[in-house]
Amino acid sequence: MKHATATSRPLPIVVLLSGSGSNLQAIIDRIAEGKLNAEIMAVISNKADAYGLERARKAGIPTELIEHSQFDNRESFDAQLIKTIDKYQPELIVLAGFMRILTNQFVDHYYGRMINIHPSLLPRHRGLHTHRRVLEAGDSEHGLSIHFVSSELDGGPVILQTRVPVLADDNEETLALRVLTREHQSYPEVIQWIAENRLQLSGDQVLLDGKPI
Ligand code: GAR
Repeated sequence: MKHATATSRPLPIVVLLSGSGSNLQAIIDRIAEGKLNAEIMAVISNKADAYGLERARKAGIPTELIEHSQFDNRESFDAQLIKTIDKYQPELIVLAGFMRILTNQFVDHYYGRMINIHPSLLPRHRGLHTHRRVLEAGDSEHGLSIHFVSSELDGGPVILQTRVPVLADDNEETLALRVLTREHQSYPEVIQWIAENRLQLSGDQVLLDGKPI
C-alpha cells in the first residue's frame, strides 16, 4: 500500500459499519482536530438503523445503505458492496463495527487496503461477545486488535494491539467501555500511520517505518 502524496493530500477512506459508529465518530473528530490527514469519502452500512449513518450525515459525509437482507447470497451482497465502495475510489477501507462475514472475493479485492478493529487480543476471542467471554475465561488482561483483513474471521496480519487490565469488580459494561475508549485512540492513530505512508504489508508481515512491528 502506497499513499502517493501523504504530506499534502488527505488519505481517501471509506468506512463500513453496522452499529453505533463511535469509532467513526473518533475518526471524524481527529480529522476535524487536524490530527488525522484523511478524508471520509463515504460511510456504508448494511443496517438502516445504524446510528453511525446518522453521525455521518451530521458531519456532511455521503452515506450508502446496502441491506444484506435484500440479497440472495453473500456473493451478490459483496459484489454490490465492492461496486459501491469503488465508486468513491478510496485508498483504505476501514471496518468499524461492520458485523458481516466477508467472502474471499471481497477480501482479495482489498487485501492490504482494508483494516478492521476487534475488541480482543487476537487470536483470543474472535467473533461476538468478547467482553463476556474474557470475564468467563478469567483472563487478567483484555484489549483490542487492529489488523489487515484476511479471509479468516477477525483474522489477518496484526498492526497494533492495545492492552487493558481486567479488574476484580469488572462487569461486561465496565470492561467494554475501557476497551472502547482505547479503540477511539488507537484506530485514528493507525489510520494516520497509513496516511503518512509509514505502514507497509510485505507478504503477511506488517512493517512500520520499514521495521517488523
Ligand atoms: C467495536 O467495539 C469494534 O471493535 C467491534 O464492534 C464495535 C463497534 O462499535 N468490532 C467487532 O466486533 C468486529 N468483529 P462502534 O460502532 O461504536 O464503533
